[in-house]
This record gives sequence, structure tokens and C-alpha cells, in this order.
Amino acid sequence: MQSTDFERDLAMDAVRVTEAAAIAASKLAGRGDEKAADQVAVDAMRTALNGLDIDGKIVIGEGERDEAPMLYIGEKVGTGKGPKIDIALDPLEGTTLTAKAMANALAVMAFSPSGGMLHAPDTYMDKIGIGPGYPEGIVDLDAEPAENVLALARAKGVNVSEITACVLDRPRHADIIASLRKVGARVHLITDGDVAGVIHTAEPETGIDIYLGQGGAPEGVLACAALKCVGGQFQGRLVFKKDDERARAERIGITDFDRKYSLNELVKTDAIFAATGVTKGAMLDGVRFERGFVTTETLVMTSADRTVRRIRLRRPV
Ligand code: FBP
Repeated sequence: MQSTDFERDLAMDAVRVTEAAAIAASKLAGRGDEKAADQVAVDAMRTALNGLDIDGKIVIGEGERDEAPMLYIGEKVGTGKGPKIDIALDPLEGTTLTAKAMANALAVMAFSPSGGMLHAPDTYMDKIGIGPGYPEGIVDLDAEPAENVLALARAKGVNVSEITACVLDRPRHADIIASLRKVGARVHLITDGDVAGVIHTAEPETGIDIYLGQGGAPEGVLACAALKCVGGQFQGRLVFKKDDERARAERIGITDFDRKYSLNELVKTDAIFAATGVTKGAMLDGVRFERGFVTTETLVMTSADRTVRRIRLRRPV
């Protein structure tokens, strides 16, 4: 499929927006202040978005209007002059990673035409993701983790001991981890940052084959947009832990609370995904300031033509 006008015109805009957020957040890397790092990323992303000629609406953002003064769900951004765009964003994915100057913090955003992405509430989501090149349906959210890695090993033509699953290091994942290790799969534990964890499945140099487990629902939709761009597979199911979460979900149009969403239900239309490294990680360099210049690395992907680009910025500070 050819890239559409939507993608041609907006991919570089998306890059500029995530670059701005990453540069701002990186200045607070290692300072131990998660909130401050997040706030500067939000401010920078919002300013950059408002400079774009788009009629943009935040569908996944910093929270509901009463709790998030900026980049809240439903906020309109852009000059209002261009195309109608839905925006999913996480100005700083990995606030703790940034505060502790640990690897893999990202500034992340996805664009779709209006109505293209699930308006995910700020709940958890059970997720499973794999990279491209496998038969459709080879893994399933409702199958045992062990079954999934065994199926993946068969499809890849390797022993299951050569399959690596990425999982967030949380007590809630003890059963998943045990199931994976029981059949001999490797488990790569991450402390935070499951958008990067999911995308790693599509980047052979990371050595990760599959992502499994529960993380933020907004991060799930963002990661799904990335996998859609590369032809990977993803499924997610919302998880409600507190009483008010179902009500929140209803307010944004979700009625079937137990639904297993396929990749194309989470991201229905074509999409653009951009991520700029804040701290250096397995797939992206972090922001660097050197001799009066700032350098960044951004991954930008477009689904219509399944294109992945890496863009390096170097400009005077
Ligand atoms: P923040 O950047 O908002 O801190 O999110 C980091 C993160 O690790 C996400 O990547 C992940 O989806 C979520 O937190 C997991 O949530 P929890 O820390 O509650 O397990």
C-alpha cells in the first residue's frame, strides 16, 4: 500500500513533537524528580503540538480534564487549520527510568485520522505482542504463556530455550514468569517502560521475541500502533481494579468490559508512531548535549507503507 497524504505530511511533524518532549525531559534525567520530568515533557509536547497545522484531539493523554490541566483527554491541539487528527501520547514513558537515569525512557506519540484509535481509559491492560513474520493468530492472550512461547518457537524453527519473553518485573506477573520458565523460555525482566518492551519484539537486535503481561492501557494502544506499522501482532484486554474505573471507561464509550481487543480494533485506521529516546536504550540513543549541540534519535513508523525510519537530529542548543 502507498503511504497516504496523511502520513507523508504528518510523520515529520510527529518527529518534531517527540523530539521536543524528549529534549525537555532529558534535562531532568537522574535528578530523582519524576513529576518535574513529566511536567517539562508535557509542556514541551503541548507547545510543539499547538504549533502544527492540524485540527488535533487528544484521545489518549495525561488523564481526564479534571485531573490533568494539560494534554487531557478531549483537549484540542494544533492551529485548527489542517486535517482532523486523533492523538495518543505519553510525553514521558518511563518517569521513574528518567528520574533514575535508567535505560529506555521515551517520548511517545501516535497520530491517526479522527476515530482511528481506541479511547483507552487510564486503567491496566493485559497485553501480548510479537513482531512481524509469523502466521496470524500464532499467539493468543487467552492461551497459557507456556503455550504461546512453544508455538512461537515452532514457528521460528528454534528450541523454546531460544525464545525470550519480555515481562514487567512485578509481583502480579509471578505466574506468567513461572509458566515461561517451566518450559525453558528466557524471561527478560524490565523495571518499567512496556511501550519499549512491546516494540523490542519487532527489533531483532534486542533479542526479544514476545511481550507478555499487564501494564497501562494507554501504553498498550501506543505500542499497538507501533506494531501495526511493522506488521506485528498484538492483543489487549482492559483490566479494572478500582470501582470508579468502569465508570471512567463508560464515559469514553466502552461498554464491553471483558472484550479482547485485536490489533485492528485498538488501532482501526492507518497510524503514525514516533518515539524519541530520552535515556539511551536498547533501540534508541538518549538525548545528548555536547559542545553547544543537542543530538536525539527518533523512530518514526507509518502503517500504510509499513515504513520505519530512524531520524537523528543535531542542532545548536
Ligand atoms: P510511567 O512513565 O507513567 O511511570 O509508566 C511507566 C510504566 O512502566 C509503563 O510503561 C507501564 O505500562 C506501567 O508503568 C506499568 O504500571 P505499574 O508500574 O503500575 O506496574
